[in-house]
Amino acid sequence: MKPLSDDPIARGDPIAREDPIAQLRTDRAEAAAREDPLASLCMLASVDGGEPRVRTLVLRDLAPAGSVADGFAATGFGLFLNRTSPKVREFAQSDAVAVLVYLPSLAVQYRLRCRLQPLPAHEVHDSWRLRPAVPKRMDWLYEQSPQSSVIGSREELVKRLQGPEPTAAPATAVGFLLNTDSVERLDLGQANGIHDRRRYTVDAGRWIEEILVP
Ligand SMILES: Cc1cc2nc3c(=O)[nH]c(=O)nc-3n(C[C@H](O)[C@H](O)[C@H](O)COP(=O)(O)O)c2cc1C
Repeated sequence: MKPLSDDPIARGDPIAREDPIAQLRTDRAEAAAREDPLASLCMLASVDGGEPRVRTLVLRDLAPAGSVADGFAATGFGLFLNRTSPKVREFAQSDAVAVLVYLPSLAVQYRLRCRLQPLPAHEVHDSWRLRPAVPKRMDWLYEQSPQSSVIGSREELVKRLQGPEPTAAPATAVGFLLNTDSVERLDLGQANGIHDRRRYTVDAGRWIEEILVP
């Protein structure tokens, strides 16, 4: 029997016409233009000792998507977080996360299988300086009271967030870039009512597109 070629074209696999990350960028820009409240957000799922966890995060567009390498594509999307939080502790168990973006204004969902890549501290700190005053103070509060820990009362929280606006980020402010090897796009907005679902996977340095049963 003839061995399978490493080259997806020679193998006859469908090659993606579109880079799914470029498509995600275009869809997010369109959603933002339509004032979609979810345009800048994602849901990030991680695992803590086998238990699933999920939360909403701002998905920042930090850089143009990078090339496909080592089985993963650099999305150029990033997250700004605090190292004291449960989620960042979970990342130490595994840097594999699932990211979901739903854009109701376009009726489009993306699901990405990702690996996290820490951002250099200077990039985190440059971005941190642009944050509003309360999130800046909150990041400093985490030094004494970790994010997601219990505090005595709402009054105590408000009191501890008074004071001058901090000028520099604490060392616990961190950021991560998302690299992906699998992107799925589900488009519910078809005139004939049949949803369009496509999966893009990295193979031999390029994107392969497969049509999925929606
Ligand atoms: C619209 C929205 C945006 C959010 N953006 C962020 C964010 O960018 N970074 C962050 O650390 N938490 C963000 N949060 C809070 C998280 O959802 C979560 O409550 C917090 O990070 C604690 O998560 P953890 O206990 O899983 O670590 C956001 C929440 C909402 C509702």
